[in-house]
Amino acid sequence: MSHDTSLINKQRQDLSTFESVWLFGYGSLIYKVDFPYIERKPATISGWSRRFWQGSHDHRGTPESPGRVLTLIETPGETCTGMAYRVSPAVFEHLDHREKNGYLRFFTPMQFQDGSQEDGLVYIASSDNAAFLGEAPLDEIATHIAKSRGPSGDNSEYLLKLSDGLRQLGVKDPHVEGIRYHLEMLQAT
Ligand code: BEZ
Repeated sequence: MSHDTSLINKQRQDLSTFESVWLFGYGSLIYKVDFPYIERKPATISGWSRRFWQGSHDHRGTPESPGRVLTLIETPGETCTGMAYRVSPAVFEHLDHREKNGYLRFFTPMQFQDGSQEDGLVYIASSDNAAFLGEAPLDEIATHIAKSRGPSGDNSEYLLKLSDGLRQLGVKDPHVEGIRYHLEMLQAT
C-alpha cells in the first residue's frame, strides 16, 4: 500500500449522502481540533489499543527520518477512550489530507458515557502500510520520539499534548504514560 491514503479513503467511502458523521479521535484529534464540529463528547471503542507504532513522514518526522505516531492495534478485551466529534461530511476532505500517511478510515461502534451508542469513523494505519514501524520497547520508542521532528513540530510535543489531553479526559493509558515517563527521564539528563 502506498503512503498517501487520501484518495483511497475518498473512493472507498462516499459520505456525501450523510447529513453528519461521527468521528472517533484517539490521538492528535484529541488535542488538535482544526476543523468545525457540531458537538463533541468522550467515547470508548472496544477491542483496540493506542500504540506508537506508525511512522510519520509528513508531520512529526521526514521520509528520511520518520517520527513515531499513533495507530490502533486490535486487542481483544481492551478498550480505548477518546473524543468523538459529530461533523459535516465535508470535514473529511481536510482530515483525509491531514491523516494521509497510511491511515484508512473505518466505521466502528462507539459507546458514550451515558450508555448510548453510535457508529463513528476512525483512522487506522494497519501493519501492511508502507510507513508502519511496529512494536518496540517503551524506552526505545521514547528515545526515537525525543530525536524526531518534522513539519508539524517536535515528535515529543505530540506525545506530551496527547498525554495531557488524555489526563484531562481522566484516561490513564499505560502505553502513553510509560513512554512519557522515559521521555521525561531523557529530558532530565
Ligand atoms: C486520531 O487522533 O484519532 C488519529 C490518529 C492518527 C491518525 C488519524 C487520526
